[in-house]
Amino acid sequence: MIPNKVKMKNKEARYQRLYQQFEKLRSNDGDRLSRMATMVALVYHKIPYFFWCGFYLLKDNNLLVSVYQGPLACQKLEKDKGVCWAAITQQKTLIVNDVEKFPGHIACDSRSKSEIVLPFYDSKKNIIGVLDVDSDKTASFDEVDARYLEKMLELI
Ligand code: SME
Repeated sequence: MIPNKVKMKNKEARYQRLYQQFEKLRSNDGDRLSRMATMVALVYHKIPYFFWCGFYLLKDNNLLVSVYQGPLACQKLEKDKGVCWAAITQQKTLIVNDVEKFPGHIACDSRSKSEIVLPFYDSKKNIIGVLDVDSDKTASFDEVDARYLEKMLELI
């Protein structure tokens, strides 16, 4: 089957502009939560294949949903199951081209078909959660998404 990849013209250039825009926005007075909310709103509305975008944060060994844009999502993710927990455990960015092929994938919305999850660290490099982005098409994410989203997370 040919991957149902969503094409975005000049993806690298678009991300570059978003990165610069976020750099300016985040320098205004604010705290971590306000920067998280700003980043999520910015990328969700500017990248056409982002169907859901948001943070899950670790709290008492649970992953709880934080700021997000998109359809209603799971509030708490069952421990050690799914893509978000895998990114926490492995402490690396995970790209899943077809969520149905990921063992234990948690489907908060059956329309989600592919996903990228990035570890989210505090200023002391402790992992505090993840950024999760879903697409309603398979194979939407690649190393360009990973690279720029990681760079933007470093600004938070
Ligand atoms: N699919 C994720 C759960 C979160 S939703 O995609 C918003 C997972 O498997 O961890």
